Amino acid sequence: MYHQNSFKFLGLVVIIFPIILLLIIGNPTVANAQTDPSQLTKAVQEIESLDGMRSQLASTLKDQPETPNLDTFKQVCKPVGMRAKQLSKENGWQVRQIANKYRNPAHSPNNLTEKMALAKFEQNPELMGFWQRETMKGEKGTDYYRRINVEASCLACHGTKNSRPKFVQEKYPQDLAYDFKPGDLRGMYGVFIPDKNHI
Ligand code: HEC
Repeated sequence: MYHQNSFKFLGLVVIIFPIILLLIIGNPTVANAQTDPSQLTKAVQEIESLDGMRSQLASTLKDQPETPNLDTFKQVCKPVGMRAKQLSKENGWQVRQIANKYRNPAHSPNNLTEKMALAKFEQNPELMGFWQRETMKGEKGTDYYRRINVEASCLACHGTKNSRPKFVQEKYPQDLAYDFKPGDLRGMYGVFIPDKNHI
């Protein structure tokens, strides 16, 4: 009698235990889904070096001959966009430049989240960057936003409307990225880092 009962109990454990285990492993909300902190650190570092690259390229324009040719003029913000694409590929992130007053229409805000992030930077001139949770196309993750300010060296191409280089006026008919002053908010970088499941 006693033996029969404990066999039944054992049988129950053998059947139920794997089911519970499967539920825990199979359910991403029970598994500890979160962004890997080292990814956050990496995103900050990569964006700092990306931003540094633009400042560096813009400042070297000052040392160029009086009328820089088309090639030298192209060598500032285009490479930043290309590096952003590369970073997305290498890390599985989505790296974007976003601006209300954009030059390339691909950089206009895509959704309410991006619009609100820009507004937050606009309202808080001392805010350098921030994180927030985000779900992008059903995928959970973390957004990192970092402000972009206008420096004096940017005005060669983002100054008054009429002083914009010819190639800008021709190639960007929808351009809104002019009439800036040093210290103005130019836009922001946005990095979406999808969660990694740590089981
Ligand atoms: C030599 C001309 C030139 C200089 C100098 C320059 N930019 Fe740009 N900028 C451009 C062009 C051209 C684009 C559009 C690039 C593209 O098609 O992706 C652009 C795009 C951008 C964008 C992406 C958003 C958008 O409007 O499309 C940001 C942000 C930006 N510039 C910031 C800066 C900052 C900050 C500086 C100074 C540190 C600067 N730029 C200096 C020419 C320049």
